Amino acid sequence: MAFAPSVRKLMLTAHITFSVGWLGAVAVFLALAVMGLTSHDAPLVRAAYLAMGLSGWYVIVPSSFAALLTGVVQAVGTPWGLFKHYWVAVKLLLTVAATVLLLVHMQPISYLAQVAAKADLSSTELRGMRLRLLADAVAALVVLLAATTISVYKPWGRIGNWLQQRQQPSPVAATPTSWGQYILLALLGLVVLFLVVHLLGGGLGHH
Ligand code: HEM
Repeated sequence: MAFAPSVRKLMLTAHITFSVGWLGAVAVFLALAVMGLTSHDAPLVRAAYLAMGLSGWYVIVPSSFAALLTGVVQAVGTPWGLFKHYWVAVKLLLTVAATVLLLVHMQPISYLAQVAAKADLSSTELRGMRLRLLADAVAALVVLLAATTISVYKPWGRIGNWLQQRQQPSPVAATPTSWGQYILLALLGLVVLFLVVHLLGGGLGHH
């Protein structure tokens, strides 16, 4: 299946809007997490956690699913394919991992928003959980920045065709570089590490 050029442009507009919008929403979430952790102004702290709960459920979660869905549609509807080029497959992996971890973390986000809705939070209350949310927001931002960079540079060439690619680059893919291969391995290692630590090591019970 190949999209007509006008459909491809429309779908690409939707994909970029949702995926880069997700990144922007996470940046706002991070600012709120910093404010919630460092401010001594009780109403401000309260408002920050309430806003984190709302933006999490109504902006960040829908954006993650929309980015994933439009990305997959865009991949299968264009010559890029879902598993033909490393940059698309790596983005799929990063996006699925980020979405799973986001859903796991919605539990503490909702909990903090519920606590904040009932009363002011003291600076020491639930500090570990608040610190953890801040660290998770930083990690999410790094993953989304990586996905955006990969989208623009489109590195690593075609899957299963690395050697041939070096001699005869594909008209649609950028030439693979040896440093790029190390970045690819580092990214995959990071994704596996994040998933293992969160889903097995830390345990879902911590959230
Ligand atoms: C948060 C995650 C993602 C971000 C930030 C992101 C960002 C982008 C951006 C900025 C572009 C435009 C690049 C350009 O035109 O030069 C793009 C294109 C594309 N993305 Fe994503 N994307 C994400 C997830 C995904 C996923 C999960 C897939 C599918 C597995 C995917 C597949 C594609 C494809 C195939 C294109 C090229 C479309 C075309 O040329 O018509 N993306 N993405």
